[in-house]
Amino acid sequence: MDFEITLLSNGFGAEVTGLDLSQTLSYDDFEIVRRVWFEAGVVVFRDQNLTPEHQVAFSRRFGPLIIHVLDQFQQPGQPEILLISNKKREDGTGVGFEEAGRYWHSDLSYVEKPAFGSLLYAVEIPPEGGDTMFADMRRALKTLPDETLLRITGRRGRHSYTRNFEDNEYLNSGRPAITSNQLSRIPGSTHPMVRTLTDSNDQALYVNPGFTYAIEDMDESESKALLSELFAHCTRPELIYTHKWKPRDLLCWDNRSVMHHATRFDPTHTRHMRRTTIEGDLPV
Ligand code: SIN
Repeated sequence: MDFEITLLSNGFGAEVTGLDLSQTLSYDDFEIVRRVWFEAGVVVFRDQNLTPEHQVAFSRRFGPLIIHVLDQFQQPGQPEILLISNKKREDGTGVGFEEAGRYWHSDLSYVEKPAFGSLLYAVEIPPEGGDTMFADMRRALKTLPDETLLRITGRRGRHSYTRNFEDNEYLNSGRPAITSNQLSRIPGSTHPMVRTLTDSNDQALYVNPGFTYAIEDMDESESKALLSELFAHCTRPELIYTHKWKPRDLLCWDNRSVMHHATRFDPTHTRHMRRTTIEGDLPV
């Protein structure tokens, strides 16, 4: 298939046009797509007409899919799809996870084998707002002052789905209730703060404000101060790409090398998205 690849901004991210992902890609085209995604960190495929089945089939070619713990927000009949949506049912309940990810995070960093990739398809978007921001964590690592790099090398971060939300009203607002059964499935995890991407040997900073709450074997106040310094460093404007959605975009990101942040919009408009999430390796 003939298609075009252009770079997005701030040295990362790519846009692909002219590819129809509702069709099964040839081995060669799929390998190009995989390479572009891994290298760029974020890739957007424009003008896709994807049913939930197409999205699941394309996503599965990258690896096994994760069924999100918030199972009340699944696409009916398609448990691998998490709906991120402010649409309501007749009884007023939400069909999807309305306030998903409105803070910097890397998907599922609180589990032992965090998500490698996430694919988000725009079914309906508001006329403005509701952008998704990405931070380039490979460049964040490369641009760290030497002294800070020394302090984190060989260290592990502690990640949890709930810890940072417990006393932070901003993070906590709009979070759906989680049952004790769901919580028991995500007890938290620790991961290297500098992560190696096994396919390329690139390294990335692997901490995020949503889920990283402490540094293992470090005094609590020192750990908090160091994490705040790291979070401020990696969210500087020159490390960020902001995705302005168009209908039928399929946006894919590599959670090992970028973190992301959904932004607000006027809730009288609809934003309805479908997410698939690919299982990753044990971070090294
Ligand atoms: C997420 O997966 O964190 C949500 C991203 C978005 O809705 O833009």
